[in-house]
Amino acid sequence: MSAITEPAALLRRIAFTCPACGATRPGSGTRFRCDCGTPFDIAPQTFPLEPSSAEALRATFSQRLGAVAGSARSGVWRYRELTLPLPEQGIVSRAEGNTPLHPVGAAADDAGWRRIGIYAGLDQLYLKHEGENPTGSFKDRGMTVGMSVARSLGARAVACASTGNTAASLAAYAAQAGLPALVFLPAGKVAGGKLAQSIAYGARRVEVAGDFDTAMRHVEAVADELGIYLLNSINPYRLAGQRSIGYEILQQLDWQAPDWVVLPAGNLGNTSAIGAALLRAHELGLIARVPRMAAIQASGAAPFYHSYATQWREYTHVQAQTRATAINIGAPVSYARARAVIEATNGVVAQVSDEEIFAAKAQIDRAGIGCEPASAASVAGARKLRAEGVIAPDAHVVAILTGHLLKDTAQATEEVTVSDDATEELMRQVRDVLQRLPA
Ligand code: F0G
Repeated sequence: MSAITEPAALLRRIAFTCPACGATRPGSGTRFRCDCGTPFDIAPQTFPLEPSSAEALRATFSQRLGAVAGSARSGVWRYRELTLPLPEQGIVSRAEGNTPLHPVGAAADDAGWRRIGIYAGLDQLYLKHEGENPTGSFKDRGMTVGMSVARSLGARAVACASTGNTAASLAAYAAQAGLPALVFLPAGKVAGGKLAQSIAYGARRVEVAGDFDTAMRHVEAVADELGIYLLNSINPYRLAGQRSIGYEILQQLDWQAPDWVVLPAGNLGNTSAIGAALLRAHELGLIARVPRMAAIQASGAAPFYHSYATQWREYTHVQAQTRATAINIGAPVSYARARAVIEATNGVVAQVSDEEIFAAKAQIDRAGIGCEPASAASVAGARKLRAEGVIAPDAHVVAILTGHLLKDTAQATEEVTVSDDATEELMRQVRDVLQRLPA
């Protein structure tokens, strides 16, 4: 096949396929769910892999690390051969990805960071901080690909339902692409920082009475009817971009696979995408073995965990109720995809209480790293799985922090309140703090 230089021409070659019934659809369409109800995947082998050897791919990815211009600077498009080989002029990017992998295990160098590893009971723990993306969450990785496709296909507007982060990301990338954006938000349930972003970046907001699951149902119905391009993670191009989290972790570890990748799980898009990346990296010989995945749910919003606990025999939606608002989801769209990767990676699913989430968040915050509440589910989950003996104390564990501390300051860890009414009172509080410091 000769190189494709026109973005729409590449997209016209792509097909969607239903993992349940095998039906196919053009990948340039606006329907992301098969008639049987299952979300479509991008059909494999729609475009040939070039270069195809593991060695040549590693060399290509490593070369791009030095890029100073163009989309090669992006931690998503760096892996374009494995995500979507879209021609440069089709790409809407702002050098997303490139997020740090912080060593915080009990054996790490920095005393403050080591405390997180000690807390989790893990010597070799790394935090992949996806909150350090342009809009403060991992969503930017899927959005750069989704928005590039939307623009290349000539979409007139884009939309999503969101617990906040997808909306913030969609709003920013739509503004960059010059496309109108609609965000469907569960009224009163979106954290302040995220809402501020959607407003500031100029998205039109539709406040839905109900929760994320209701908003998701509405946007799917409306987008299809009005021909607005849907950019939730039901859109497989979003997931193609989010796969780059997996590739970037592996590259940062010099292609030595960790034992575990642990992450918060809500709508299950990220679990599916990262799992797919790890499996693909193994299939291509980029890594010698497949890391095990651990998807962590908040116990108030844990339909995936409950299904796993019945060996997948049962699966029912729930009325979600957790203070980790990003993962307050009771009817996850990517259930089938996520289940497939948990099974294929010999993975596990766990649930943690809001108390465990906020206790883990306090550790991450105090180390000077910080994250939003839902993100801390990964560390809380790693700690729990270590305590249960599922994860060994010397295992290499990567826990993903999905969002930035500033997304949700209402729930930032509280402890020291310093009043400036009176110097006396101020001094008393400072002395009080000093007294409680360890000697
Ligand atoms: N962590 C954060 C910070 C999130 O915003 C989300 C999802 C997740 C974890 C869960 O990822 O859905 O792929 O399993 N937020 C979506 C949103 C639902 O609308 O921003 P998932």
